[in-house]
Amino acid sequence: MSPLIDICPVSELPPGQHRLVEWEDLEIGIFNCDGELLAIEDRCSHDNGVLLEGEVDAAACTVECPRHGAKFDLRTGKPLNLPAYVPVDTFPVSIEDDMIRVEVD
Ligand code: FES
Repeated sequence: MSPLIDICPVSELPPGQHRLVEWEDLEIGIFNCDGELLAIEDRCSHDNGVLLEGEVDAAACTVECPRHGAKFDLRTGKPLNLPAYVPVDTFPVSIEDDMIRVEVD
């Protein structure tokens, strides 16, 4: 069974906000896109840009890598434009007893 890691209470991650969690050698960005909670590895597949430092479009549920401008779909991790062409890992998010949890492999 994959480990579940506690992120924070739901009230601490309102719409439009995001936060970083570290788990072993992974850095994971947790985003609240207009109420939808999504988790994506915080590392651009093009050249390791830090996605949490990029611009988030909450309506489209995308983040733009601050280094060379590749946009990623936060739901799927798929890049929407070059120079990235490899998806970034995403992680299932759940809420249990008001706590946001992320399932990591
Ligand atoms: S490092 Fe993200 S687009 Fe190049």
